[in-house]
Amino acid sequence: MADKIRFVNYPKQYQQLKTEFDAVFEEVMSNGDFIMRRHLEEFEHNLAQYVGTRHAIGVNTGTDALYLSAQALGFGPGDEIITVAHTFVATVGAIVQCGAKPILIDIRDDFNMDVNQIEQVITPKTKGLIPVHLNGHACDMDKIMELAQKYNLKVIEDAAQALGAEFKGKRCASFGDTSIFSFYPAKMLGTPGDGGMICTNDDTLARKLRAFRDNGRVESVDVIECFGWCTRLDNLHAAILDMKFKYFDKWIERRREIALAYDQGLIGIEGLTVHPRADATYFDVYQNYVIRTKRRDELVQHLRNSGIEVLISWRTPLHKQKALGLTHFNLPVTEQISNEVISLPMYPELTDDEVQIVVNTVWDFFKK
Ligand SMILES: Cc1ncc(COP(=O)(O)O)c(C=O)c1O
Repeated sequence: MADKIRFVNYPKQYQQLKTEFDAVFEEVMSNGDFIMRRHLEEFEHNLAQYVGTRHAIGVNTGTDALYLSAQALGFGPGDEIITVAHTFVATVGAIVQCGAKPILIDIRDDFNMDVNQIEQVITPKTKGLIPVHLNGHACDMDKIMELAQKYNLKVIEDAAQALGAEFKGKRCASFGDTSIFSFYPAKMLGTPGDGGMICTNDDTLARKLRAFRDNGRVESVDVIECFGWCTRLDNLHAAILDMKFKYFDKWIERRREIALAYDQGLIGIEGLTVHPRADATYFDVYQNYVIRTKRRDELVQHLRNSGIEVLISWRTPLHKQKALGLTHFNLPVTEQISNEVISLPMYPELTDDEVQIVVNTVWDFFKK
C-alpha cells in the first residue's frame, strides 16, 4: 500500500516555510500587534491590488464576509436572492440570516450556476444574485452582470474558492457590488485558523462594511457610526497570510501543473469523467480537482483503502438537507453531480510521484 497521501498537508507546508512562519509569529508576538494593526492593513492593501478592487476588508470568516455583504446591500424580508444549492451552506445561510428568501437554480457541468436559468426565476421581489465561483473556476460573469444591470440586482460574488481565477482576463471578485474570500486552512490561501475578506469598489459600502466588522467603529473608537458585529481578521492571521501571499502565483502554477497531470493520467477511463477543462475565456486555479463517476462510493472506498484521502463536496445538496426548509426546489443536475463527485488531493506540496500514485490507484479500480 502507498504511504498515506493526504487530502491537504498542512504540516508539510509548515516545514517547507518554517523559518518564515516562525519569523512572523516572533514579530507579531514581540510587538504585541494583535487587532487592527499594520499587517492587516498591508494584507488588505496587497489583496485589493491583486484582485483589482479599491477596497479589501478583513473579517473573521468567509461566512461573515457573505453575511456582512448581504446586510450592507440591504437584503432583508420580502427580498429574493438567486443562488445555487451546489455550494457551501454559508452562501445560502447569508441570505436566510438577513431574513431574505433564497431562490436556488441549477448548475452546469462545470459545477457553476447555469446562467440561462436566472431570468426564469426573476420576479419583482428579486434583489440580488450570489454567483459562486466553485473549485477555482469563474462563473459566466458577462451574463450575470448583464442581467444584474437589466433588472437592477445587487451581486455578491462568492469567490471563497477562487482567489486568482479569471474570467476574460479579469479576476474573480472584481465584478460584483461586493465579493468574498475565505482563508479557511484548506483554501488555496489558507491560514492556520479562520479568516475572510470582503472586496468592493464602492467607497460607501466599504465604509459601512468596516463599521459592521468592528462594532460600528471606523476611524475612532470614540465615534460609533452604527450597531455592528465583532468580526475582524486578526493581525497574526493577516501577517501569516501576507507572508504566504508572496508564493501564491507560484502555487497556482503548481496547481495547474497537477491538474494537467491528472487530466492526462486519467483521460480514457471508461466510466470516469475528469475535471472539466475550460476554454481560454477562463483562467482556472484548481481550488479542487473534481472527477465524476457513477461508481463514486466504491471508488472512494478503494482510494481510502489505498491510503489516499479524498473529499466529497457535497454528498447531500442543500435543497435536500431537510432542516433547511429548501426541499421545494427541483435541481436535477445538482442532484446528479452530488451522487458522482470526488475531489482528489490537490495542493502545491503534492509531489509528481504522489500524483502518479493517485492516477495509478484510480486506474487499478476501473481495471478490476
Ligand atoms: C463556496 C464557499 N463559500 C463560503 C465559504 C465559507 O467560508 P468560511 O469557511 O471561511 O466561513 C466557503 C468555505 O468553506 C466556501 O467554500
